[in-house]
Amino acid sequence: MRAEKDYNFIDAVVETLRPRARRLVDSVREIDYRKANDFIYDAEPLRRIDPRRIILRKAMVDTEFFKEIVRPALYWLYNGDFEIIHDVSLDYLKKFPFVAEELAPLFDSPNLHIRVDGKSVMPFGNAEGFDKNAVAIRSLSNLFGIVMFGTVPVNQRKGNSKPRIETDEIQKTIYNALGFPTEGLDRVVRNARQYKRHEANAVLLGSICGIPDEKGIETAYRELEKLATELAPYVDGFIWNPASPNTYSLPLLRKYDVAKRSAEIISKNSKGKLLVKIPPYENDVCRQETLSFVKGFLDGGGNGVVAVNTLKTSYQIGENKFSGLSGSNLGRFRQKAIKDIREEFGKDIFLIAEGGIIEESGEQAFNAFGAGANAIAGYTGMVFNGFGVIPQMARGLERMLNKKGYKTLTEFQESIGLKAA
Ligand SMILES: Cc1cc2nc3c(=O)[nH]c(=O)nc-3n(C[C@H](O)[C@H](O)[C@H](O)COP(=O)(O)O)c2cc1C
Repeated sequence: MRAEKDYNFIDAVVETLRPRARRLVDSVREIDYRKANDFIYDAEPLRRIDPRRIILRKAMVDTEFFKEIVRPALYWLYNGDFEIIHDVSLDYLKKFPFVAEELAPLFDSPNLHIRVDGKSVMPFGNAEGFDKNAVAIRSLSNLFGIVMFGTVPVNQRKGNSKPRIETDEIQKTIYNALGFPTEGLDRVVRNARQYKRHEANAVLLGSICGIPDEKGIETAYRELEKLATELAPYVDGFIWNPASPNTYSLPLLRKYDVAKRSAEIISKNSKGKLLVKIPPYENDVCRQETLSFVKGFLDGGGNGVVAVNTLKTSYQIGENKFSGLSGSNLGRFRQKAIKDIREEFGKDIFLIAEGGIIEESGEQAFNAFGAGANAIAGYTGMVFNGFGVIPQMARGLERMLNKKGYKTLTEFQESIGLKAA
């Protein structure tokens, strides 16, 4: 069944391309002959290369090929179902980890490296939610310096009713009302354990959340302890995420005392990075609430922040009355949050910027670093542009740094008072 689907995918690509069939032939030739020396170490003859591998590799580096051919083909094949398309894509990454391995040098720019707990890595990450169950972390670790999985709650959960995701192709935004669907902690531990054996160089962060129930907050603490203890051997740190807008009991977590206790629970059971994810805020009351629970988290042993999660909106999807907005419109919330966090909590904490960093030009990335981010991460950019956006963004960022007189990102970060993390 799966193999049949794989070949349907090839058919779909060819079908979408039929009017431009000549170009497909040329582009496949191009990658196998002209770019072969760059990409293919083992120089297999064309006939022995699995066509899925050729398409996957090209889709992962060539944003135009991804946007014009692969994405429409996937939408056509899976009737526009975002979640299935996303799962199929992760499945490809999982099935062909050597494609990401081959491409790793293209995704690496040593002048942009930052130090994170002794590792020298690219300052780009895939945002949380991209790989909820840690199925593709081996491939992702060849594309990103910081790999995040989750958010993982303890128990398997279906999440909210479907449909629960929509994209806006003009605005380049995503609305999601997922509500933490997950395969649960046991499955994620198995996946993370397998990854650990491959000893990739990326920093691996697990996003976790204990969920309050009708018995109250104690359930959340118990779950958090279990999550931290069982995942700690396999990760370089944790992100506590009380900021999802689609799970009704989470506002209970966004309090000084609860955040402090949560950080204490995680830090007692793990080492390394301990970050808290914050929601975007629109007014001063929400700003104060957010800064207050961040303070609690840092007082409890946390050492960083991820800013920002999706923006809660009243955009209804199916039966779900609210949804979280991702993508370009989050840019101003991200910038404000980074500045506020730096002003309030200083330059020593580790700050990952998220929200609307999606463009190839690298300008949004540059702005986020300019405001004081140690690293950046994204989700929406990859959905609309494919992974190829990452090396392009890196080149754009490097050009902008050079123009301002900095040879490396670290040089720039030191000039604004950030310490190597
Ligand atoms: C479909 C979807 C699922 C997400 N799931 C999670 C999640 O489980 N945990 C989390 O902290 N953030 C989650 N996010 C938020 C992203 O991590 C990120 O903060 C947000 O999308 C803003 O970044 P972007 O504009 O680059 O997408 C999700 C986002 C999307 C689009």
